[in-house]
Amino acid sequence: MSEDLAVEPLVEVSGISVRFGSFLALDNLSLRVMPGEVYGLLGPNGAGKTTTIKVLMGLVAPSLGSVKVCGFDPLFQPVDVKSRIGYVAENSIVYESLSPRDFFEFVVSMRKTDKAAANRVVSGLAEVFDLAQYFDSPIATLSKGLKQKVALIAAFIHQPPVLLLDEPLNGLDAKSSRVVKDLMTLHVQRGGAVLFSTHIMEIAEHLCTRIGIIDHGKLIAEGTLEQLRTKTDGKDSSLEEVFLKLTNEDAAVAERTKVLREAFFGNEAH
Ligand SMILES: Nc1ncnc2c1ncn2[C@@H]1O[C@H](COP(=O)(O)OP(=O)(O)OP(=O)(O)O)[C@@H](O)[C@H]1O
Ligand SMILES: [Mg+2]
Repeated sequence: MSEDLAVEPLVEVSGISVRFGSFLALDNLSLRVMPGEVYGLLGPNGAGKTTTIKVLMGLVAPSLGSVKVCGFDPLFQPVDVKSRIGYVAENSIVYESLSPRDFFEFVVSMRKTDKAAANRVVSGLAEVFDLAQYFDSPIATLSKGLKQKVALIAAFIHQPPVLLLDEPLNGLDAKSSRVVKDLMTLHVQRGGAVLFSTHIMEIAEHLCTRIGIIDHGKLIAEGTLEQLRTKTDGKDSSLEEVFLKLTNEDAAVAERTKVLREAFFGNEAH
């Protein structure tokens, strides 16, 4: 999507650094997500994806730099920001003793959103996620994927312009993953924005309008798959190949494959 100067970004991260004690988790990171964009954050484990999303939610304070969501600052205008975000955490904390029905009612009342519209969202999403039969079971008794569906529905209840989804397909079966991908696409078609993290390269490859690669807290590359390919020499490379090259993990992967072969097959491996 071209960045029309008249259009304001829905998510703007400007030069943020985050420290946990002496450890620098994010190092001068900047990115923007415009209306209509699905922006995928990729990066090795521990790279800083969750930390970036937490800064946008106001859950972690940057030591340098600033962030804006729909023009509001998460630390100083938390209510304005939270009402405009649908957030799914990496490890969603939903109230396990409640049933999905009670939990959604609780979220609707907290959100002070239009009840009829919220109920339409809940029943529509419950139907497409095949969740209706579990509506009165305690969340504690639901499987991992079913809990993830509850977290996703709760994030959509107030129909926010910005979706911040930390590994949203975690635990979902193929059909439900497809639903989430469709929801993300529909959301940006209505002018919203999605920032999500994933380790699933095929999903990022097919779904994202732009991809940002984080490594050791730094944004090391950003753009469409085509643009990322130009940073490596692979004209027809998959996103996985491009990602491994850009994060300098392609040589490490080859070395680990060799070690594994030797561990399994001994000298026969040669
Ligand atoms: N509260 C904390 N205190 C100390 N260190 C932290 C804290 N939160 C995160 N970190 C560290 O910051 C770094 C970035 O963590 P983060 O969770 O953002 O990574 P990630 O890219 O989301 O990784 P993953 O792919 O495993 O989810 C890691 O080294 C992590 O150990
Ligand atoms: Mg994470």
